[in-house]
Amino acid sequence: MKQVDSTLRAAVLVSGGGTNLQAIIDSQKRGDLKIQLAVVLSDKPQAYGLVRAQQAGIDSVCVLPADHADRDAYDGAVLRHLDRYRPDLVLLAGFMRILTPSFVTRYLGRLLNIHPSLLPKYAGLHTHRRALEAGERWHGSTVHYVTEVLDGGPRIIQGRVPVLPDDDVDRLARRVLAVEHRIYPEAIRLISEGRVHYADAAAWLDGSRLDEPLQFESGS
Ligand code: GRF
Repeated sequence: MKQVDSTLRAAVLVSGGGTNLQAIIDSQKRGDLKIQLAVVLSDKPQAYGLVRAQQAGIDSVCVLPADHADRDAYDGAVLRHLDRYRPDLVLLAGFMRILTPSFVTRYLGRLLNIHPSLLPKYAGLHTHRRALEAGERWHGSTVHYVTEVLDGGPRIIQGRVPVLPDDDVDRLARRVLAVEHRIYPEAIRLISEGRVHYADAAAWLDGSRLDEPLQFESGS
């Protein structure tokens, strides 16, 4: 998908605090990110990400799992909401549900996630605890295209942080979040400028296949 001349329309899916959403909003407001934030959708009514959307004047909607018979029905309802906004990109930003294959297929190549580990290490949950228990010296976060393989889609960019001797889960999580707030807007910027795209089950940068993700260095 090459988009150079037209402004991309993005939908953001959240379940929680929405600090990544906020980083995207801030980046757009600063003019660093030329996209249109069309809608924020949550599965949780108390998600603070919904408040952030309202404060930024972005349409927001909560779709409750309890109102739907099963995962297919739920994802179908989410797709219908998203369709109204015709998003070019669907950004998962702490959306704590696994999407059905039909959802993923529908938005394949336009669906991104941010995962708090240096994928392929630590797919799934409790990434910080697992990295600490394994004695890792480095941890971080990855922005990747979403495919049917959980946390296994083509990686675009990673941000690494050192694991410090006195780290606990909270301290490490804070350091990882700070780098997430840099790499998610950066990945979206590269896509919005037509430099990164998805094709043939891979991520591409400037016409070359990205076999390894870009590395974000603090201070860069
Ligand atoms: C982030 O750590 C992200 O990697 C993970 O969920 C967390 C969301 O944080 N998928 P926030 O809601 O953006 O603050």
